[in-house]
Amino acid sequence: MPTTLPTISATDNSVIDEVLVLGFALDKKSKKFSILSGELRVDQGPLLQALTDLGASGASDEVIKLPGSASKLILLTALTLKADGSIAHEVLRRAAGAAARSLAGTTSATFALPQASKQDFQAIAEGALLGAYTFDEFRGSSKADRKPALKKVTIYSKKAKDKSYLQGIKRAEIIAKYTHLTRDLINTPPSHLTPDSFSLRFKKLAASLGVKVEILNESQLIKGGYGGIIGVGQGSANPPRLLRLSYSGKGAKKRYAFIGKGITFDTGGLALKPAQGMEAMKSDMSGAAAVCAAVLAIAELKLPIHIDAWAALAENMVSDKATRPSDIITIYGGKTVEVLNPDAEGRLVLADAMVRAAEVGKKAGGLDGMVDVATLTGAQVVALGTRTSAVMTNNESFREQFLTLAEITGEAFWPMPLPEELRASLDSPVADMANIGDRMGGMLVAGLFLKDFVDSELPWLHLDIAGPAYNEAKAHGYTPVGGTGVALRTLVALAESSAAK
Ligand code: BES
Ligand code: MN
Ligand code: ZN
Repeated sequence: MPTTLPTISATDNSVIDEVLVLGFALDKKSKKFSILSGELRVDQGPLLQALTDLGASGASDEVIKLPGSASKLILLTALTLKADGSIAHEVLRRAAGAAARSLAGTTSATFALPQASKQDFQAIAEGALLGAYTFDEFRGSSKADRKPALKKVTIYSKKAKDKSYLQGIKRAEIIAKYTHLTRDLINTPPSHLTPDSFSLRFKKLAASLGVKVEILNESQLIKGGYGGIIGVGQGSANPPRLLRLSYSGKGAKKRYAFIGKGITFDTGGLALKPAQGMEAMKSDMSGAAAVCAAVLAIAELKLPIHIDAWAALAENMVSDKATRPSDIITIYGGKTVEVLNPDAEGRLVLADAMVRAAEVGKKAGGLDGMVDVATLTGAQVVALGTRTSAVMTNNESFREQFLTLAEITGEAFWPMPLPEELRASLDSPVADMANIGDRMGGMLVAGLFLKDFVDSELPWLHLDIAGPAYNEAKAHGYTPVGGTGVALRTLVALAESSAAK
């Protein structure tokens, strides 16, 4: 039962909804507030006085609710200004999100926020929908006490009737729908999400979009030589899968492969993780959820591009069948790996899927790029914190293209190196390589492990989203507690920007 998305429309008329959302900002120099309502005229005097009287700070995520006259409520959402007084589109996205989030339990809201461009309009629409998210699927007796998410979003804009703005609304709807799907899957516990059920959920969703589905089960994986996925999954009663979603848009020239780490639960295997915090490892399939949902979004947007999404799905468990430290496995394609640490499992399932994806891509005429997405290392969180993801690559111009797009989508990514000198630490005395190396620079070592499975000619990005995929802190902006859906927006943007060329 997927979370329902609010309905959304745009208007250039003054509408009367239950709530009117306006922006406000504090001018740091004059210490004065201003109301920022785009082109909608509102009576500012009493609102400004109220902000002062209530002791508002204007800091991001601040939301102030006042009784309205035409609408029941006026909601003032804080906007932080750049030095020149302009507003970044991500500030608008977050402010709309914070507003929508605080409006759970209400029916309808009109968002009248400043817009300097279509990008701003798009950001507001996205933020409002992304903020209107709740996950109550598993509540029983407490369900009735929960406020449902905001049901109806209207974006006020003078250009509401422009065709491209209407398309922007449609796009925001698709982005939000599949981000919500990604979040739902991340939040679903391993009692209710296994490699098999993950695959079947996408199989159902893919059918109506003309996206082809291939699911390899455990016996096909053994026969096919997928030693990484089998090795990681063999300790579990819930057997592994390799899911492939293929989308071929009309008029497509370019072909990309997206590969996601899909560990439905990571206990650490025989390198068992401590009990404290292990529950968060239900999110270890975030990469797989993001790449699969992104392909469905790309299909629904009918983009002219070929994309295969691959989800390498396994549950990393402890049992008498589990892979032992010192076991040697053979990755698809023949490279052998000594598993020194069964908790470094993501790279093993990804390696199988990456080699296979490149092989399939080659047969179809060659890949233009490969992107893998994974909650791969704790070291990523140590290095960049919980809100910035890492991007590693063998091709700097591909990385620059991606980072430029991430700037527009509002997803925080930061470039990280793959220093050649760290590669030697992955040498094994008995196999082609080991699955762990130097502990220092662990994120980079994991990236270097994966690099060994990519043709150096193939532009490749490795996204480590370990921190940002799952929000264990408080909700902020359009980001709820739990699964965030990070990477989806920039993957869709990559497909859009590459399709055009
Ligand atoms: N899934 C974890 C990484 C992770 C940690 C994701 C924290 C999200 C939050 C991964 O499988 C793992 O356990 N990595 C090990 C690798 C190590 C054994 C080389 C790690 O980072 O400790
Ligand atoms: Mn692990
Ligand atoms: Zn893991």
